[in-house]
Amino acid sequence: MCGIVGYVGPRAALDVLVPGLEGLEYRGYDSAGVALIGAGGLTVTKTAGRMADLVAALDAEPITGSVGIGHTRWATHGAPTTGNAHPHRDCDGTVAVIHNGIVENWAALRAKLIANGHEFASDTDTEVIAHLVEDRADMDLADAVRDVMKLADGSLAIAVVRTDEPKRIVAARRGSPLVIGRGDGENFLASDIPAFLRHTKKVIAVDDDRVVDLTAESIVITDLDGNETPISEREIEWDLEAAEKGGYPTFMLKEINEQPTAITDTLRGRIDGTGRIEFSELELDNKIIRMIDKVFVIACGTSYHAAMMAKYAIERWTRLPVEIDIASEFRYRDPVLDDRSLVIGISQSGETIDTLAAIRYAKAQGATVVGLSNVVDSALARDADAVLYTRCGPEIGVAATKTFTTQLVMLQLFGLYLAQNRGTLDPGTIGNLVAAIKELPQTVERALQLEDQIRGMTGEWADTRDFFFLGRAGDFPVAMEGALKLKEIAYVRAEGYPAGEMKHGPISLIEKGVVVIGIATDSHVRAKTLSNMEEMKARGGTIVMVVEEGDEDEVASVADHVIAVPNSPDLICIVNAVVPLQFLAYHIANAKGLDVDKPRNLAKTVTVE
Ligand code: F6R
Repeated sequence: MCGIVGYVGPRAALDVLVPGLEGLEYRGYDSAGVALIGAGGLTVTKTAGRMADLVAALDAEPITGSVGIGHTRWATHGAPTTGNAHPHRDCDGTVAVIHNGIVENWAALRAKLIANGHEFASDTDTEVIAHLVEDRADMDLADAVRDVMKLADGSLAIAVVRTDEPKRIVAARRGSPLVIGRGDGENFLASDIPAFLRHTKKVIAVDDDRVVDLTAESIVITDLDGNETPISEREIEWDLEAAEKGGYPTFMLKEINEQPTAITDTLRGRIDGTGRIEFSELELDNKIIRMIDKVFVIACGTSYHAAMMAKYAIERWTRLPVEIDIASEFRYRDPVLDDRSLVIGISQSGETIDTLAAIRYAKAQGATVVGLSNVVDSALARDADAVLYTRCGPEIGVAATKTFTTQLVMLQLFGLYLAQNRGTLDPGTIGNLVAAIKELPQTVERALQLEDQIRGMTGEWADTRDFFFLGRAGDFPVAMEGALKLKEIAYVRAEGYPAGEMKHGPISLIEKGVVVIGIATDSHVRAKTLSNMEEMKARGGTIVMVVEEGDEDEVASVADHVIAVPNSPDLICIVNAVVPLQFLAYHIANAKGLDVDKPRNLAKTVTVE
């Protein structure tokens, strides 16, 4: 996820681009850059780091122009360096491009361009677009962009300027967001409305596979064959703060709702046309994958709940033994590791010191370490032998939501990848599970429709002090995560517990007024979870059951409330089951008037032991 912005009109473009990019920093902030077309031709300034670093570079060496494009980056291909920052140029510096998304066939396009004599200055997928436009120097710029859009696969929101067309920006969209702002004698483009909201409230949404031709006086939108398409314009009523949250009252609610897109982006390019799982970034020799005889998964907090799910997935699908550890405990139990051990360290931030210390310890014992992070080039990514990324864009709310569901998806995919490469599961079964994973953006989208039901049900619980979240097998990590969300943002005592373990002690806490939430989506233990929930009901608990659609009748007699999530096969379904529990914590906290984005005593990244 990156932020793009463009301006064409009478003003100094930087006066629009810089505040615009600052408004988009929530989309990415590891590097930034601008390209202006002015009297001296095309000038590009870019820096690694935050917008403040770019502003300092522009102050040190001012540039001018009234047509310009700018970008704030969340790295996906190539480390967050100045060289990899956008805009990217062609060989002779006449074309500049900014891009949000992923060009999936970049490697093949790049190889071909290099064979034809193009020289690349970065490691990014984006740079291929600049060179492809360069190859079309004799074409009208919009025709060239339409042509390039037909060649590039994947998700693209791009904006292109070329020195021979100094009063024009051509942009295009497929998959990644792009909106146009209509001004008076000036026009704007951006990935999101906050970038230009202070200048205009007239907004045009751009559909997929559309090319936008922007001058100060005109906005023309065409399909990829050059046919003009109708423009529908609307007037925005939000203020700037509301716009940054995409119209949602909080970042957490926005991020919960971004989960289908985050999962789509995370899956992109990882399953080929035949259903085979490919991790092009995972520089791990297949020999190592075949040699490992034990797996450890290490993480903290919500990431640890993803680790719990990984244990079930990897053991079930590969028959490799898996140990899971809370990172701050790992080193102190003297774990038995050697060069046949695979250690998976999970940290959305990639900077959690407990997790870093644990994987460094594991590496020192000879283990192979794979990191799973949402931040490209984070400390975890650099320390690990190989790395996998979720692709959520920045998560601003302190409580992890979209980073968690995408961790689950990546770990499920990684479990199946191990099974595929070790030959432990038949291809048909892998194919069915992969197909279900590919459906998750749609099933999670449907799970988001449960919000009104959950808001209605939680209204009466603002003063409830005790919650239990119970589940068995794959539903147990979901229970743990539901309880953690409630604790951290609503400041309520909530226990996540294995449903079958309650009778060994905690059942003595169940009485009238205690809310017990049972998760029963993992079908091979559902009947047992239901019996356990009967035991909670018999002691006076208020019972909420999270089940799959179609199972409502089975639980009607035990449950005071039933939440039915869309069906997916076991383990995959738990991604759907997490969503209502995020809403449950959110609406209880909200009803209490709490700041859900910044809960007390917590930090988004924990860099102390
Ligand atoms: C919970 C939460 C924390 C983090 C934990 C690990 O909502 O945000 O429990 O999950 O601090 O953080 P990462 O994944 O960055 O290592």
